[in-house]
Amino acid sequence: MSIYPIIMSQTKFMQRDSLSYPYEERGLQFGDGIYEVIRIYQGNYYLLEEHVDRLFRSLEAIKINLETSKEEITRLLNQLLERNDMKKDGKVYLQVSRGSAPRDHVFPEDVPPNLFAYVKELPRNLETIQNGVSTITQRDVRWENCYIKSLNLLPNVLAKQEAKEQGCYEAILHRDGLVTECSSSNVYLVKDGKIYTHTANNRILHGCVRMRVEKFAVDMKIPFLEEGFSVEDISMADELFLSSSTSEITPIIQSDNQQIGNGKPGPITRQLQEAYEKDALIRKLEV
Ligand code: PDD
Repeated sequence: MSIYPIIMSQTKFMQRDSLSYPYEERGLQFGDGIYEVIRIYQGNYYLLEEHVDRLFRSLEAIKINLETSKEEITRLLNQLLERNDMKKDGKVYLQVSRGSAPRDHVFPEDVPPNLFAYVKELPRNLETIQNGVSTITQRDVRWENCYIKSLNLLPNVLAKQEAKEQGCYEAILHRDGLVTECSSSNVYLVKDGKIYTHTANNRILHGCVRMRVEKFAVDMKIPFLEEGFSVEDISMADELFLSSSTSEITPIIQSDNQQIGNGKPGPITRQLQEAYEKDALIRKLEV
């Protein structure tokens, strides 16, 4: 599906084809920047505040000083939807790099960051949300700062491609057997009525949907334990599921060719999906 015609560049709006960057751009050459992917339901953002907060945490972590405030970014992102008359389900991709400058590893001086954002349509993937997906497990070979939503996604890209080549939807990553997250989503295991997931430290991206999953679990009095779980635990799991802005809460019914539980999405995953739909869709419809 194509990009909507009006995009945002710095704090201005322009036609999608008029944005161009020089070869010597730090996002292009070094992956020296960060990004966000924000879900849209029926023309309204879901978890916008959480995404903008994370954007600024990532910027601070890599020492990019964006002059634009959180409030201004929020206002601009809302305008982006209005200017495109966006009323459907979709997503916004927003990227900030350290700017355009002659190639040199050292930060350039007095160069403004490059910021752009565009909107795309994205229907809910009801097939995978309803029926569940298969995964593979892989070693997590990324760096130590996975809480930063960095443009450097090569290990994630390679892991996801491997999953695809094995006919799977996602790659579950692990460090020395301890599961961290997936290549582009967070992952959870359910055992004896409790939800287990990796603690929100530097080894994973602190997913905006993950924050919601925790809240839903607490509201429903389902223990949410940030104790992590191992690759071996997966074979004994009652349920397994993943979450992200684009995948929502997706059941995992098979991993490394082994069936999870009874091979069908489990009851706790279903309860969380219901809570998600209420939170994301019904609430938004009421606005
Ligand atoms: N990815 N972990 C990783 C490594 C991710 O890339 C993502 C999101 C998540 C889930 O975060 P959130 O719940 O805030 O979407 C976890 C986005 C969707 C992407 O890169 O396209």
